[in-house]
Amino acid sequence: MKSSIKHLLAAACLLSFTPLIRAQDAASISRGQTVYMQVCFACHQPTGQGLPGMFPPLASSNWVAASKPDRIIRMVLHGFTGPITLNGKPFASPAPLMPPQGAALSDTQIADVLTYVRSSFGNKASAVTPAQVQAIRDAEKARSAMWTEAEILKIPAE
Ligand code: HEC
Repeated sequence: MKSSIKHLLAAACLLSFTPLIRAQDAASISRGQTVYMQVCFACHQPTGQGLPGMFPPLASSNWVAASKPDRIIRMVLHGFTGPITLNGKPFASPAPLMPPQGAALSDTQIADVLTYVRSSFGNKASAVTPAQVQAIRDAEKARSAMWTEAEILKIPAE
């Protein structure tokens, strides 16, 4: 008897927990869209398509779709400079530059905007949490230089 009650409780927890996570993601996505339309859209465009030769697309980008967000969190915190390879092809020459946003945006704002980007423009990657951003901000607190491709590729993302 006791164990069947436990099973029922476990099932009820699972049923109520799943929509709860989705509701949290939905709130983060909606806040992230606001951040995107304030900070990122001028370059990457409201559609996430970027501009040829200037701003790379966030739609169908191997960087955005990576299973771990560890590289894109770093890009937003510290910026990115030099040539970038997008889906196996060099993006633009001369290489453009992405300014750092770590001083302007909180951990929650960075988590929200990356959750928005990873679930918009046809992307279907997992949400990013403020704790993930905070851990990377702490781990990289000695850093002020922008990332280059050679350096950021040493950070595992799969
Ligand atoms: C001033 C223009 C500008 C702004 C603002 C900007 N970016 Fe970028 N972003 C770039 C450029 C240019 C690159 C490529 C940099 C290079 O090649 O060195 C880039 C690269 C990226 C990349 C990796 C390449 C890709 O296409 O997937 C991601 C992810 C990204 N940006 C996300 C963001 C997010 C999220 C924001 C807002 C928080 C943002 N960017 C704000 C210009 C910008």
